[in-house]
Amino acid sequence: MNHLRLGVNIDHVATIRNARGGAHPDPLRAAKIAEASGADGITAHLREDRRHISDHDITRLVREISIPLNFEMAATDEMLQIALSHKPHASCLVPEKREERTTEGGLDVAGGHNMLRHYVESLKDAGIRVSLFIEADPRQLEAAQRIGADIVELHVGAYCDTEDPMKRQSEFERIRKAAQLAEEMGLECHAGHGLTYGTVAPIAAIPTIVELNIGHFLIGEAIFVGLEMAIREMRRLMDDARQAVA
Ligand code: PXP
Repeated sequence: MNHLRLGVNIDHVATIRNARGGAHPDPLRAAKIAEASGADGITAHLREDRRHISDHDITRLVREISIPLNFEMAATDEMLQIALSHKPHASCLVPEKREERTTEGGLDVAGGHNMLRHYVESLKDAGIRVSLFIEADPRQLEAAQRIGADIVELHVGAYCDTEDPMKRQSEFERIRKAAQLAEEMGLECHAGHGLTYGTVAPIAAIPTIVELNIGHFLIGEAIFVGLEMAIREMRRLMDDARQAVA
């Protein structure tokens, strides 16, 4: 069985902290618990408005965790400078709009007129692996490859959020085909957004996906069962789904 990596997104530990100011709960403590509970990496999104993760959180994460940090960032010069100064293991470029509640939709790499190329090249030159958060669309995959991305992360939000079984099936097929195409194109394929215990298994069973990034559900579930149990249960569901297709 090829190991499916789990990246735990700790943004919403910072959301809860920031609701009151101060230092509790600490995203670094969450990252260390995630590491001890079977996470293969930590993901953190430094948004332009700093609504959850702060610059200081990134400094501490880079210094103190021993599993890879996936630094999610908008393609802006400010974020590029921060990434270059910290040199995380990977940077995932995401679209960002101030008014949205969360990252809605993928990057339009195909329509981006090469705007992203400069960011991809600068990050890669610094030895940072570059991921692009995109819709499961062959045009976006081709554009991602053209501008030199190492990784594509497929946005699985539409698959996760729908209640309609037909739509879920068609969204799933779109993701499965895109993940296969990514492998054929030599792009490493990740997936994320909106995954829960109820939606993770079919995605985890797609053999060409190598990493899932999961945040909101795990942090919410941790309120009831603790972060370690929530992560261990997600890990178990992912591994069982992978094993069933091995
Ligand atoms: N991957 C990317 C690129 C994201 O932007 C997010 C949300 O910040 C996630 C994964 C995790 O999504 P969720 O918090 O819904 O699990």
